[in-house]
Amino acid sequence: MDVNRQQFLEDGYVILRQVIPPDQLDSLRHSYEIMVDRQRATWAQEDPPDGVWGRAAQPRLNLTSLADQIDESTASTIEIWLHENTQGASSQLLGVEDAAVTEMMLMCSPVSDHGPARWHRDFAPAHSSPVMGYAEDILDNGPRYVQWNLSLYDDDVLWVVPGSHVRCLTSDENAQLERDAQAPLSSGVQTHLKAGDGVAYILPILHWASNYSTRMRRTIHGGFSMFTHYPNLSYLKQLSPQARETFGRWVKRSDDTMTRTEIALRAALEADGAAYQQALQDLHPESGSMAMRQSTILLSKSAKRIQDLKRPASGVSEEELSYATGIHPMTMQCGQPMADRFSVAEAGRLWERFRWVDDRLRGDQDATCPGFQGGPTSYFFNDVPAELTVDNFIAQWS
Ligand SMILES: [Fe+2]
Repeated sequence: MDVNRQQFLEDGYVILRQVIPPDQLDSLRHSYEIMVDRQRATWAQEDPPDGVWGRAAQPRLNLTSLADQIDESTASTIEIWLHENTQGASSQLLGVEDAAVTEMMLMCSPVSDHGPARWHRDFAPAHSSPVMGYAEDILDNGPRYVQWNLSLYDDDVLWVVPGSHVRCLTSDENAQLERDAQAPLSSGVQTHLKAGDGVAYILPILHWASNYSTRMRRTIHGGFSMFTHYPNLSYLKQLSPQARETFGRWVKRSDDTMTRTEIALRAALEADGAAYQQALQDLHPESGSMAMRQSTILLSKSAKRIQDLKRPASGVSEEELSYATGIHPMTMQCGQPMADRFSVAEAGRLWERFRWVDDRLRGDQDATCPGFQGGPTSYFFNDVPAELTVDNFIAQWS
């Protein structure tokens, strides 16, 4: 599939036509509908019965949690993610040889009209980084992750603000969002997908689900990255030998990435600056200083989460604990399995080490900012302070 990477990098999104080969569309719709029925059967046993399907603005299937229900009739719901038009195109867009699928989901229309959602970027600065941390890494090294919407039926729900993946919002955009975060933005563009088309986009682009209406919506949703984790691969036995081999490669890489993340954290723990810089390079080869800074910010969050999981009694809120267990490989968060690799004493020292980074990322008072997820926070939304560099971080260790 021909992709225009330059346009993708500039605009932060690209629309690709007929990603699902037309002769596969009907059978893929059928397979996904079987999965919808199976998910609904599971939801029907919950309390209240069918609550998600009946109440959610955007009922969503996660194929990972339905992994045990993948069989011959539904294997194509996974295999579409391995197609040249999705996996191959993603590798081109990311500028890598072998992009790996991250999450595999399906977004569905609700049973009653829910109207527009709120404009947002897909992250909360308190748990990842200021937006310019992402932006400067993307401008320097390209994106680490590409997200997809791939429509099984015509879909024009998604709007995006072109170029907003690498910049802060303008004062005019902020003012519009403060007035009404659920209305069209003058800088926004509506995407129009015909059945089988896809839109690939770079987070943290500002985007909007403009209308959760009852119009039939079955849009495959997920992404690709070099950073992955697969909690349940029981569906592998249903896939072709080639697909199994592909996942095998990705699983191996995911294990290696986790080990390299641990090596980076331990290098900081041991105050070994050269080893720390080497570990960052190994995690994100051929990347420049902005990637190393962004990885350092993300590793400071890992250090915090490891500490939260090791010392849950030390005044950590339920919400923080639930973040700490979350596995989000694209932002280098490995949850409990990473915490298990450190002793309580090490976790304490690790957090002390990264506290310098954390302190640089927050002010004295909680604030809010339009267009982000999460509530009021003292963490900066937009800019990374100039003094936060990897060299300055390492200089604190002597
Ligand atoms: Fe979103």
